[in-house]
Amino acid sequence: MRNADTEEPDPLPRHIAIIMDGNGRWAKARGKPRRDGHKEGAEALRRVVTACGELGIDFLTVYAFSMENWQRPKAEIAYLMSLIASYLRSETNVFVEKGISFDVIGEIERFSRSLQKQIAASAEKTAGGKDLRLTVALGYGSRQEIVTAAARLAEKASGCGGGGFVVDREAFERELYTRDLPPVDLLIRTGGEMRLSNFLMYQSAYAELYFTETYWPDFGKEELLKALNEFAGRERRFGTIREGEASA
Ligand code: FPP
Repeated sequence: MRNADTEEPDPLPRHIAIIMDGNGRWAKARGKPRRDGHKEGAEALRRVVTACGELGIDFLTVYAFSMENWQRPKAEIAYLMSLIASYLRSETNVFVEKGISFDVIGEIERFSRSLQKQIAASAEKTAGGKDLRLTVALGYGSRQEIVTAAARLAEKASGCGGGGFVVDREAFERELYTRDLPPVDLLIRTGGEMRLSNFLMYQSAYAELYFTETYWPDFGKEELLKALNEFAGRERRFGTIREGEASA
């Protein structure tokens, strides 16, 4: 479906999630160190955040550092941390100007105290942003998130002596990091791999999946529009059937 007047894809997803993959291969293909791929990856994130703001997307959640990424070489982890810190230093005021609120999901307790403080300060400073909510997954893992939510619910239920405590979807979702976010409508993964890699598995139950060979540092508004056009053409039935097909 196209909106012929604006040539913007229609309908748009409310919540886009992105697995930003391929930084290392982008760098390798150019004979550069992996860190150059991550640096360009940060530029791609700037472009995509701007594009989402321009297009009127409400929620963008990106996978910047998984729990499994702690197993990478120390120097690469340190570089990624410094990149995130410098991104927040340069972007926080831009977020305020553009009405973007920033927050993180994941276990950030393992991050340096100074980065944790910087994250909290950016989240606080941008909290009033009403146009786009940017969530960065850091030290995030979906399985861990789900297990922790289940454990919290069990603890609450036992605190009530078991009686009168309702365990339902709403109660469970309140224990997830994403309690303030709607379900994912469109999940994009760059870099050619076709898997979820422990990212927003519960939240993406009915997400449309879009995979592209493009490495993340080469991703930008044009590539985003391709994904959005594909999304606009998909029929989302959420497990139901089309109207008028109920004959059998
Ligand atoms: C995956 O590429 C990417 C990451 C593990 C890091 C993502 C980080 C950025 C995009 C940098 C900027 C982030 C912020 C929040 C400023 P890879 O290294 O696994 O690539 P490969 O699969 O080609 O090796």
